[in-house]
Amino acid sequence: MTIPPSFIHDLLNRVNIVDAIDRHVSLKKAGANYVACCPFHNEKTPSFTVSPTKQFYHCFGCGAHGNAINFLMEYSGYSFVEAVQHLAASTGISMPDLQPAQKKGIRPASTQLDKTAAHTIQDIYEVMRIATRFYREQLKQSNSAISYLKQRRLTGETAARFAIGYAPEGWQNLAAIFPEYNTEKTRNILIRAGLMIAGDSGKYYDRFRDRIIFPILNQQGQIVAFGGRTVNHGEPKYLNSPETDIFIKGHEIYNLFSARKAIRNAKCVIVVEGYMDVVALSQHGIDYAVATLGTAVTDFHIQKLLRHSDRIIFCFDGDNAGKKAARRALENSLTQLSDGKTIQFLFLPENEDPDSFIHRYGKNAFEQQISQSIPLSEFLLTVYSQELNLRRDEDRAKFIHDIKPLLHSISAPALSIMLLNRIAQMCDMNVQELESLMEIRRRISRSPQKNMHRKQPISPYRWLLLILLHQPGYFSRLDQKLILCSNDNNEELSALKVLIEVLNKNPEIVSNAPTTSLLNYLRETSFETLLRKIESETLEWNDDLNLDAEFSGTLQKIADIQRKKRMTELHSKPLNSLTAEEKQELQRLAMH
Ligand code: GTP
Ligand code: MN
Repeated sequence: MTIPPSFIHDLLNRVNIVDAIDRHVSLKKAGANYVACCPFHNEKTPSFTVSPTKQFYHCFGCGAHGNAINFLMEYSGYSFVEAVQHLAASTGISMPDLQPAQKKGIRPASTQLDKTAAHTIQDIYEVMRIATRFYREQLKQSNSAISYLKQRRLTGETAARFAIGYAPEGWQNLAAIFPEYNTEKTRNILIRAGLMIAGDSGKYYDRFRDRIIFPILNQQGQIVAFGGRTVNHGEPKYLNSPETDIFIKGHEIYNLFSARKAIRNAKCVIVVEGYMDVVALSQHGIDYAVATLGTAVTDFHIQKLLRHSDRIIFCFDGDNAGKKAARRALENSLTQLSDGKTIQFLFLPENEDPDSFIHRYGKNAFEQQISQSIPLSEFLLTVYSQELNLRRDEDRAKFIHDIKPLLHSISAPALSIMLLNRIAQMCDMNVQELESLMEIRRRISRSPQKNMHRKQPISPYRWLLLILLHQPGYFSRLDQKLILCSNDNNEELSALKVLIEVLNKNPEIVSNAPTTSLLNYLRETSFETLLRKIESETLEWNDDLNLDAEFSGTLQKIADIQRKKRMTELHSKPLNSLTAEEKQELQRLAMH
C-alpha cells in the first residue's frame, strides 16, 4: 500500500461523504440518508444512497459501493493515490511524505529537486491556470497563430469557448511570467506540471513552443493538461502534456466536462479522433462530441462514457488508421455492453474527418451521417466476415473460430443471443449446433439482487461482520479466540479472521469508531467484494436496532455452533478411544 492506512483513516474521518459526493451528483435528503439517480448506471428512479452516519454510498440498482475515496475513483477515474490527494487537498490536510520507492508510479519521472520542495497538487493546478491565461493572452497577440486558426476556419468565439491559446516561440517564456521562478519550489512545480523540462545541462526550458494550445479539463473542470498542435510543420504534429500527478492520459477525455449537458440533451455522445474535430463540430452546433487524447479507445473510456449516455457513436476517419481504431474500439466495447446500451460506428467518406466534413457539408449533413451509423453488432459481423466467402465451408469455420472469443466477452445477454442467431443464419447452421460449437451457455438474466438477503437467514458470522463494519468499537469486546479457533469452511468466517488481524494491527480504527469505512484496510484482499456487499446491508438497519443485544446474541450463536460442532466431532469417535480430557470436555459441552 502506498499511503499509510492510518492516514486514510484520519482523512475519511475529516471528510463528509455527503459533501464530497454532492459536489458532483446532486443529492436529495430521504429519511436518514441522501439519494440520487445513480451516476454509475442509467436509471430513472434514485437507488443511489449515501449514508451520512455510515459514510458510504451504495446503489441498490447496480451494486456500486464504497466510501468517499472509492467514489472519486469511480466517478472521476482517479487512481487510489490521486483520489486521496484530491480529498486531502479539499480538506486542507497535507499528504504524508511518501517514501521515494512508494512514489513510483504516481508521479512523472521528474527531478532531483523533489526532496527539498514541499509542494502540493493545488500548486500544480494553479500553475496550469496561470499558464492557460498566459497562452490565451499570447494568442491574441500572435498574428501568425490567429491566421492559422482562421485558415482552419475557427472563429474567435469558438477559440475562446475552448480556451484555446498559443505558446509562442522561445524557450524561456514561462520563466518570465512566474515571478518566483528563481525559487526551486516554483521551478519544481512547473516541471511537475509538465510545462517545463529539465535539460541535461541543468537548464530548464518550456515544453510547448510555437504551438496552438488546447487545454484539457478533468471531470471537475480543472485544467490538467495541454495538447499542443504545431503551427508550422514541426514534429510531432501534436505534443501532449506528459502524465503528471494530476493527469493520466488514458483516463481523460477531451471536452467531456464541457459537453456533459449537451450529451444529456442529445442522449448520445460522439467520439471523434482529434481535438480539432471536437472544436469544429461544436462551432457548428454539435456540442456532444469528445475525443480521446490521441490514444486508442479503451474499455476505461467506454465505461466512463456510458455513465454519461446510453448511446455512444464512434466516428472515425474513413482511412485505414480510422478503421483500425474502430476495430480496437469495437473489441474494447464488448465487455462494457449491456442490453439497453447502444454503441454505433460512423465512417465518414474517404479523406474526410469530422472537422473537414462539417465545414464542407454543414450540420445537417453530419447529422444525416449520424443517423446512418451502423450498430456495433453489424460492424462486428462485417469486420469479421468481410474477407471471407461464407459460401465456403472453410471460410465459415474460420469466421466462427475468429468471432468466438468476441462473442464470449459480450456482457449483454439479449444481444449475444441475437448475434448468435445472425451468425447461424450467415453460416446456414442451426442455432443449437452453433451454440454448442461456441460453448455458450445461455445466460439467464439475473433478477435484481435487491433485498434478496432479507429472505435468507443471516449467518452469525455475517452478523458479526456487519456489526464490526458498522461499529468497529465492538472489537474490544470480542472474544477473538472464539473466532480464530473456529474452523468452518466458510468465506464469512475467513473474512472475520482477516478483519480481526487488521483490527489488531490498527488499533486507531477501534478507538476512532464509528464513521469511517474499515474497508480501506482490506483493499485488494480477496474479501473486499464480500465485505462491501455486507457493509451495504447495514444501510437498511434502522436506528432502533439494539446493537448491544445483537452483538452478544451473535457471539452466543457462534459459541453454540462451535460447541455443537465439537460435540459431533467427539461423538463420532468410538467412546473407548476418547482420552480422559476429551470425556470431560464432552460432559462440559453437553451441560450447556
Ligand atoms: P489536424 O491535422 O490538426 O486536423 O489534426 P487531426 O485532429 O485531424 O489529427 P489526426 O487525425 O492526425 O490525429 C487525431 C488525434 O491524434 C489528434 O487530435 C491528437 O490527439 C493525436 N495525434 C495526432 N498526431 C499526433 C502526434 O504526432 N503525436 C501525438 N502524441 N498525438 C497525435
Ligand atoms: Mn483533422
